[in-house]
Amino acid sequence: MPITILIGAQWGDEGKGRVVDWLASSADIVARYAGGDNAGHTVALNGSVYKLHQVPSGVLHSDVVSVMGNGMVVNPVNLVREIESLRDIGMDITPERLVISSRAHIITPAHIALDRARESALGDAKIGTTLRGIGPAYLDKTGRAGIRTGDMLLDVEEYAERLIAAVDAANETLRRQGLDTLDPQYAAESYLDAAAVLRPFIRDTSVYLHAALTAGKQVVCEGAQGTLLDIDHGSYPFVTSSSPTAGGALTGLGVGPLFVENVLGVAKAFSTRVGGGPMPTELDGEIATRLRGSGANFWDEFGTTTGRPRRCGWLDVVMLRYAVSVNGFSEMMLTKMDILSGLGDLKLAVAYEIDGVRHDYPPVTNELLQRAQPIYESLPGWQEDISGCRTFSQLPAAARDYIDRVAQLCAVPVNSVSVGPERDQLVLR
Ligand code: GDP
Ligand code: IMO
Ligand code: MG
Repeated sequence: MPITILIGAQWGDEGKGRVVDWLASSADIVARYAGGDNAGHTVALNGSVYKLHQVPSGVLHSDVVSVMGNGMVVNPVNLVREIESLRDIGMDITPERLVISSRAHIITPAHIALDRARESALGDAKIGTTLRGIGPAYLDKTGRAGIRTGDMLLDVEEYAERLIAAVDAANETLRRQGLDTLDPQYAAESYLDAAAVLRPFIRDTSVYLHAALTAGKQVVCEGAQGTLLDIDHGSYPFVTSSSPTAGGALTGLGVGPLFVENVLGVAKAFSTRVGGGPMPTELDGEIATRLRGSGANFWDEFGTTTGRPRRCGWLDVVMLRYAVSVNGFSEMMLTKMDILSGLGDLKLAVAYEIDGVRHDYPPVTNELLQRAQPIYESLPGWQEDISGCRTFSQLPAAARDYIDRVAQLCAVPVNSVSVGPERDQLVLR
């Protein structure tokens, strides 16, 4: 059975891009199924760093086809820019190598303006979105008012009229809030230019994937964001507007569950979150600064899309256990193990205490989650630089114990860890 679904097990930025890049070496197709250019997926290869936002992270493999599924929201103008920047570095991005679903929804300039307007109206209660128009685009999708990628195949004038109508409607809202309005003509023109480039890439991707799967092709489904940002399963309303979890891969690509063989959960060896919302193991002070890094390295904890510093803390096994139950991981991978070197004793949050009661799973309401006190288990750390390790036996005993304890607490095998950002900095069991 040829599908592996790869899912972020935390609040995003777990290192999914680099793991997809690794899995792509034995895949035929890499397919993104949710989100848009709120994602920032980093792949490091031979000293070069590639940051992908909409194009799937298998694109560095010239024999892999990239699919952008119907569950995504696509910013056509930014996608054209991303394609051009990949072409500038010598990549051959053709309709044979990149296939865009005709059923994905389009992020319009109106959505971006409304995202900004809504965040500023929320003030201190803001979500902390990436301001890419994601929420308003999914709102129009579920409200049955969206414009789809397939509409780029329409008559040019009809497509332009729809864009102009969307911008006109957004302008009314912006005006009411006393905010700057958009020029509908200008917006439509840039989108028509993008449509001219993208038209040859657009087709029915579920039919395409079904044919590939029945022919025995290997497909990696690339999750964006993470389980705890899921619209249903995350800490609502501090979530994104899509379904980054396992079920979302099936609806976001239009493929059937019987093809799925593996569900791989990717978790960072500690916790990070960017944007608002509860984060029970968040730290400030010296350890947080160590985990985050100064920003001097590309892998330090500053947003790939927005540059915002990420909130950092100890690994939250309560949340991981929940991610296991939501997604049914067949295995997990821990990334950024190298960052834990030299930290001294390490802590794992194995449960929460809320009002004197122990919880093994996160409570549903944010009010309770805000009051959750992590119950920590301490494990000995290690001093050694592990970035050169390539086998489990080369890892210090304390690092192996940390990995094994996480696997035991989550009741899921951890068969791989990463010890640096480069493609080969992996340790496989
Ligand atoms: P994604 O959104 O899940 O793809 O993750 P991001 O790319 O936003 O953030 C992960 C960051 O960690 C990137 O800069 C990666 O290059 C980096 N990274 C991934 N794995 C490792 C690792 O094992 N060690 C180190 N030091 N960096 C890593
Ligand atoms: P990748 O794929 C981390 C967060 C935002 C905000 C919330 C809602 O790189 O892991 P949105 O713009 O989606 O409406 O923002 O979700 N968020 C991410 N955080 N990594 C991401 O993507 C994210 N995509 C959205 O910070 O809290
Ligand atoms: Mg990211």
